[in-house]
Amino acid sequence: MSNTASNNIESVLVENRVFPPSEAMVRQARISGMAAYDALCAEAERDFTGFWGRLGRENVQWDKPFTQVLDESNAPFYQWFADGELNASANCLDKHMGTAVENKTAVIFEADDGTVTKTTYRELLVRVSQFANALKAEGIQKGDRVLIYMPMTLEGVIAMQACARIGATHSVVFGGFSAKALNERIIDAGAVAVITSNFQMRGGKELPLKAIIDEGIAMGGCESIKTVFVYERTKTACNMVASRDKTFAEAIQGQSSDCPPVSVGAEHPLFILYTSGSTGKPKGVQHSTGGYLLWAKLTMDWTFDLKPEDVFWCTADIGWITGHTYVAYGPLAAGATQIIFEGIPTYPNAGRFWQMIERHKCSIFYTAPTAIRSLIKAAEGDAAVHPDRSNLDSLRILGSVGEPINPEAWMWYYKNVGHERCPIVDTFWQTETGGHMMTPLPGATPLVPGSCTLPLPGIMAAIVDETGNDLPNGAGGMLVVKRPWPSMIRTIWNDPERFKKSYFPEEMGGTIYLAGDGAVRSADRGYFRITGRIDDVLNVSGHRMGTMEIESALVAKSDLVAEAAVVGRPDDLTGEAICAFVVLKRSRPTGEEAKQIANELRNWVAKEIGPIAKPKDIRFGDNLPKTRSGKIMRRLLRSIAKGEAITQDTSTLENPAILDQLAEKL
Ligand code: WT7
Repeated sequence: MSNTASNNIESVLVENRVFPPSEAMVRQARISGMAAYDALCAEAERDFTGFWGRLGRENVQWDKPFTQVLDESNAPFYQWFADGELNASANCLDKHMGTAVENKTAVIFEADDGTVTKTTYRELLVRVSQFANALKAEGIQKGDRVLIYMPMTLEGVIAMQACARIGATHSVVFGGFSAKALNERIIDAGAVAVITSNFQMRGGKELPLKAIIDEGIAMGGCESIKTVFVYERTKTACNMVASRDKTFAEAIQGQSSDCPPVSVGAEHPLFILYTSGSTGKPKGVQHSTGGYLLWAKLTMDWTFDLKPEDVFWCTADIGWITGHTYVAYGPLAAGATQIIFEGIPTYPNAGRFWQMIERHKCSIFYTAPTAIRSLIKAAEGDAAVHPDRSNLDSLRILGSVGEPINPEAWMWYYKNVGHERCPIVDTFWQTETGGHMMTPLPGATPLVPGSCTLPLPGIMAAIVDETGNDLPNGAGGMLVVKRPWPSMIRTIWNDPERFKKSYFPEEMGGTIYLAGDGAVRSADRGYFRITGRIDDVLNVSGHRMGTMEIESALVAKSDLVAEAAVVGRPDDLTGEAICAFVVLKRSRPTGEEAKQIANELRNWVAKEIGPIAKPKDIRFGDNLPKTRSGKIMRRLLRSIAKGEAITQDTSTLENPAILDQLAEKL
């Protein structure tokens, strides 16, 4: 550790703390020192396609090499390595056969109840191949869509890899989403099969998955589904539909452990992942095979400085993009040993993460600020679950993802988990970007708490105003990426117009990617700091939620709700909290009755979308504050949600008394 770092640790309250990497970290790093970072950036500036072409050849195994790196003729529908052919699963598994990685542990799986299973790359290839053959036996083929609704288990990764192996496009839905959400996604994707599990285990509880799939399919419109594969995670029986449903055991019965990977074009959709946008309907973010895989593999090397002996642990669920890129694909493509964890960070106690780091000698630990904040709180309340109680000497790099990490949580993580030795890579990226966009590099970038620092080489990030003009350092604006990059979103499934409108606004020329986040660069170093979404998207515990989506869910309870407006407010633990303002079809409830109806509405939203979308605050009013033209005054509602004094002009309000109603907490 450098002296600067130790001096700065003492002065937590001083702004602009900077933590340069240690000499030792720089010396051993793949990108060693800022000069090496600058050289890569310069290479990308000088010869953009030459740079990406070199990386594409060095990091991906092609069945048929590409001849063109980037095709911009149909922008913003950019194509990367388009005439190249490859298979994603072969790049994660087959590639390692006959090398030192073949018999290396690929996955250390720790179940909710603590049971540990280790699987080598060779064994994983066998399991993926068998299951891929089971998919083929049901007639599933290249181009088909398969919906995956699985617990956080090795079998979830096997399901994804098996789809990739035969060229089927998977769409993973997080295990916390509702039957309704599943129904919509099955229909939108036109899925031919579902891969699910009878139950999932979370914090000692057995929760149904298959029953929710059955309910989702029964809602209608899912005639495309021919097969439902059911992994028997627990011994408890679930309903099985004779002609449609197959257990994993039945499906792989007699299947060969050899399944030749199907070559696909680089632009072939590896997966669709639904995420929230600023309308009520989730977007099916479509990713490619070649460009995506390149970035998944390369960011393992660059951001995490992955070495053969590392034990990598990304705590994200496969239902999110982080679990795609840094669990299901990146670590395997990079030949890493990784930990996959089924449970929750607070079970059987809030020391679980620290105990697991010790138990498995984890060296790279990647988690979300919301988890860190809740574990800080737990450790402060109970010394027995403090990271001090575990031996964390194996750690060398820490990571953060999903939302801005506040400097206080950053310092705690740095001190109490990393013992002031481990750089924290604060990785900024999105479902749409496929992989990291901005992040410190462990052996190069001086760290500043709360900043994702600088773009990775080749990522042309900038901050602009509404018309796309560059803003100077210190001025807040919109985060954009001025040139395409290989792992970017290709389109919104079934909705190319929405793709163009959402991400490539005409006012900016129609070819520049608009991230949807506000950002500002520091005056001294030009470091980026994300200031939050500029659209109607919330980030609750690192989960992305559209305010409109929750509003649609609320008004769908049409016997009760007349109108609803949803905004976010800051929350110490979850980053943002959901606050719903509701007008009922009956008179405004108060007291106990209001609490009761609020709970009814929360449970309703959980059924419509999922428990993660439950509003924390619900306030009732006789109506909502609107402008003369009838637009809901959201900024005003945000102030009310925060409990701030109202500074906006409210003279146009029809009924100013409702402001007091809406400010009333239940
Ligand atoms: C949104 C994307 C990145 C994978 C998980 C979330 C926010 C993400 C950071 C960070 C500040 C961050 C942004 C972004 N975000 N990482 N390191 N610092 N903000 O993916 O669900 O698509 O959400 O998460 O607001 O737009 P996602």
